[in-house]
Amino acid sequence: MSEKVSRRRFAKLAGLSAAGIASPLEVHAARSVRAPRGAGGFPPGFVWGTATSSYQVEGAVSEDGRGASIWDTFTRIPGKIEDGTNGDRANEHYHRYKDDIALIRELGCKAYRFSIAWPRVFPDGDGKPNPKGLDFYDCLIDELLRNGIEPWLTLYHWDLPQSLQDRFGGWRSTETCKIFGDYAAYVAAKLTDRVKNVFTLNESGRFVYFGYGIGIDAPGLTLPQAEVNQIRHHSALAHGIAVQAVRAHGRRGTRVGPAENIDACVPAIDAPEHVRAAEIALREMNAGYLNVIMEGRYTDAFLTFAGRDAPKYTDAELKIISSPVDFLGLNIYAPQHYIVASDQGAGFAPLSIPKSFPHMNSDWLRVGPETIYWVPKLASRIWKTDAIYISENGASGDDQVTPDGKIYDTDRIMYLRNYLAQLQRATAEGVPVRGYFLWSLMDNFEWVYGLNERFGLYHVNFDTQVRTPKLSASFYRNVIARNAAGA
Ligand code: NOJ
Repeated sequence: MSEKVSRRRFAKLAGLSAAGIASPLEVHAARSVRAPRGAGGFPPGFVWGTATSSYQVEGAVSEDGRGASIWDTFTRIPGKIEDGTNGDRANEHYHRYKDDIALIRELGCKAYRFSIAWPRVFPDGDGKPNPKGLDFYDCLIDELLRNGIEPWLTLYHWDLPQSLQDRFGGWRSTETCKIFGDYAAYVAAKLTDRVKNVFTLNESGRFVYFGYGIGIDAPGLTLPQAEVNQIRHHSALAHGIAVQAVRAHGRRGTRVGPAENIDACVPAIDAPEHVRAAEIALREMNAGYLNVIMEGRYTDAFLTFAGRDAPKYTDAELKIISSPVDFLGLNIYAPQHYIVASDQGAGFAPLSIPKSFPHMNSDWLRVGPETIYWVPKLASRIWKTDAIYISENGASGDDQVTPDGKIYDTDRIMYLRNYLAQLQRATAEGVPVRGYFLWSLMDNFEWVYGLNERFGLYHVNFDTQVRTPKLSASFYRNVIARNAAGA
């Protein structure tokens, strides 16, 4: 398969599955005032944050006793990563975290979502913890708090200890789920004196299918559908076990929930029959993970559709999977399905997406701002949740450095402005979205694309490690300062 083809194929599958402040602007941002509610304003106390993940930014992969992860192994297979890079250095955040936290502070963010590299804390996944691994997160958390930034921790953002892959086949085995629970318990016991919010697994919707179904992500397997469904079930089980572990071992009041790339269904037209169809579609398209977490059962349509490939499970497992969560974290980037009502089947039909549909620098990242209005709105209706966080939203851009050394990413600003306006529309209607984490603080290792696709508010020169604020950093700072979308 040529690189071109694989890239196109990736884009297609991604679409189906599941994404300094220039000085004159500083003056502008300083002048801005908080917007009144009703004038594009967000509710008081809305959490404005930004996000990264361990393998994408930390580097230092063999330092201080860190064990290998499946991504260390996978990125070494020739041809797997488009530009041949890996996370060995990435953003050197392991050593530069203090400077990076200063960048978060510059934005005015009050929250930062990061993930723990499991193999830093348990080099083999289980067994003896590596004290130096946890030390890093201790220091990171303390530094965040010193800067008035609340740490939001993700337990699993894809860097599975290689040892668990070797010994148990990774998420193919429930052994990995149990060990994940022990790791979650350990982290909760050590860190929830300061960390009040924990995300369990990031994007089951991607890492299961891409990692075990089509081999685009680590561990790079192409297993039959029945096994993929079983692995997805294991990921839901791991989520539930982690929820229970955090409750049992964390400080009382620690909040815990998933961070899922919900399969985003959007009514093609804002008319009652299509909205209802999109609601049905959202529940069904997310039956394999979010819905079983929230409802404690696989839907009939899901089981019928899966047929002989349906996962094997017990009632006891469903109970664990549906342990009550404190919030729903949703990663929302692109509209995945535009839905219309249908008198066939379950009552909805996904439309095919025209080739000319606009997208950002990543082919898969279609621009559909109303997605961030409809998906939380319908999700809160279906699952009766009173707290939703947008655990990720953001955009890749071209991000050329101009001769004056600056990056005028008006494309990213366009994307963010429109998405945030739609998010504000949702909160103004009472949809319980409580916070937003912009992906990403800075350009970083974008998995299969390597360093080629940039999502950061800060541009990173990966040779010199110099960080330069893009124009969008000023934009976001202004949004936060005004607590309003139309900045
Ligand atoms: C979702 C993933 O959680 C994150 O790791 C990735 O970089 C962004 N989307 C952008 O693709």
